[in-house]
Amino acid sequence: MHADFAIIGGTGVYDPKLLDDTTPTTIETAFGEVQATVGTYQGKHIVFMPRHGFGHSTPPHKINYRANILALKQLGVTQVLATAAVGSLRRELRPGSLVIVDSFLDFTKNRPVTFFEDNAGVVHVDMSDPYCHRLRQSLASSAEQIGISVHHGGTYVCTEGPRFESSAEIRMFQAMGGSVVGMTSVPEVVLAKEAEMCYATVCMVTNFGAGMTSSALTHEEVLEEMDKNVSRIRELFFHTLSHLTSERSCRCKEAVGGQSPLVGVQGGERH
Ligand code: HPA
Repeated sequence: MHADFAIIGGTGVYDPKLLDDTTPTTIETAFGEVQATVGTYQGKHIVFMPRHGFGHSTPPHKINYRANILALKQLGVTQVLATAAVGSLRRELRPGSLVIVDSFLDFTKNRPVTFFEDNAGVVHVDMSDPYCHRLRQSLASSAEQIGISVHHGGTYVCTEGPRFESSAEIRMFQAMGGSVVGMTSVPEVVLAKEAEMCYATVCMVTNFGAGMTSSALTHEEVLEEMDKNVSRIRELFFHTLSHLTSERSCRCKEAVGGQSPLVGVQGGERH
């Protein structure tokens, strides 16, 4: 099975609704097994992968990011649209806002962060445009065409989790220029770049950061807000996908100069 495009669904985005002819697939990678669904939309082959697994069973710090990205690579995916539930660090980014982030601050502590280790060579991948500018532009134009309001640009602060932040941490992230805070974009965005894929994330603001309001934060609140707004992200993604082709004019396809450690990696799929 081959697919050019993928959607990685974060918290609250668990089903590949809108895809036709779906086939559940298990992909075996050098880092472990991954489950996804492959289907079509307007004749294009698209993989849907729930980041936390079907049923949201894996917490952010335990996600096997390398297996997820490698599985997509093995299926032939070159362009990925991801969703992420986030807390807001800015008063103007209210719950329900969509943010197409363009950079990140990495506060993760304990995750495998690269494909390039254990004899795979030494590679320092460029992160000046971590989220593909071409895909970000496509998302923003689609949003405009279908009348969905988005914030174009913003910095994603990635924490280790699974706890929410302290109010002092939120103040620090604000002072550092962060826009939103979440627990999953790093290392996913980095690994996608190492795999020479185009990758962009649309963040859904589900809450204000801890301490910005008087109430305590709960995972239920995050899920409720996500549920209210998920149809807008879905509409945005499918409109964007209908306009994308396999043509890539950006430089993501040579992000590590073709040194991809994934070439020749053994894997397989089961249906
Ligand atoms: N912090 C971290 N991750 C999150 C938040 C938050 O406030 N909301 C949704 N995911």
